Amino acid sequence: MVARTTSNEINPTRSWMDTPPRFPLVRRLSGEMIAAMPWLDKVSQSVKGATEKVFGQPRTPSYKVKDFLAGVWFGHPVHPALVTIPLGAWTSALILNLAWLSDEDAGVAKSADILMWVGNASAVGSAATGIANWVDTDGMEQRTGVLHALLNGSSLVLNVTSGLLSLAGRRRSALALSSTAYALTIYAGFIGGELAYANAIGVNRVAAEGGSDDYVAVIAEEELTPGKLTRVDAAGIPAVLIKDGTKICAIAATCSHLSGPLDEGSYEDGVVYCPWHSSGFRMCDGSVVNSPAVYAQPTFAVRVRDGMVELHRLEHA
Ligand code: FES
Repeated sequence: MVARTTSNEINPTRSWMDTPPRFPLVRRLSGEMIAAMPWLDKVSQSVKGATEKVFGQPRTPSYKVKDFLAGVWFGHPVHPALVTIPLGAWTSALILNLAWLSDEDAGVAKSADILMWVGNASAVGSAATGIANWVDTDGMEQRTGVLHALLNGSSLVLNVTSGLLSLAGRRRSALALSSTAYALTIYAGFIGGELAYANAIGVNRVAAEGGSDDYVAVIAEEELTPGKLTRVDAAGIPAVLIKDGTKICAIAATCSHLSGPLDEGSYEDGVVYCPWHSSGFRMCDGSVVNSPAVYAQPTFAVRVRDGMVELHRLEHA
């Protein structure tokens, strides 16, 4: 008998590119283009190796630079906030340069030049913060991220050249270059959006976890070994417990960075380190000690009743 596929059956061999809407042109072409660019992986490895040498290892002084750029101090990635400066400056510069074409007003030209260089300078900071978030990605996400960086890097080179041409009085040539750069920037923004919205890079991976409104018993206290991380199920939410002295602390077991299992990590001086990329979280308040995570772990109120450890998941920002 010949198997027949009806219109509403799901064919598991198909990719997202064949799912409705069936003609998401930009996404489809971008997906095909990135899949056809394996050479980007070599670029990724080179950049990643150089970056890791600069940042060093977690828990070393040089790694503080990465923590800062990633946004641990901010409780949020710095990159999406900082990119608004070059985007706004370049957009304004382009509009002013187009306005300059009508009457070649010197004041308009000067304003456009200032904005162009504000955009160029702030783009360097944006790139540094982006690299700090990208360096711990893998696979297609890493490849997509390096394409995003190459597009933005090309845009920056064009804008710097455009700025220099403007200073040399060749404003029409400068405008041609900055217009090309602007188109590259918009497309790079789309690719960056794919990373965040489609691949969930840079988002809080535990934001959607719910939990019980009341305490739930998860394990007998006598089963906890002091200093040993223990995974439990708290009404469908995985939590990791530590008993340190007489105190018991609990945070979500799924790492807010890229969903690593914290209970398989290591514990030292009140801090759990993720086994995947070594993010550190304080066990008793979930706060981030070191990147790549920037979002704190959800925490649980803990009590012991009748020899059973009970958890109640607290509201999480
Ligand atoms: S998943 Fe990356 S540090 Fe935990």
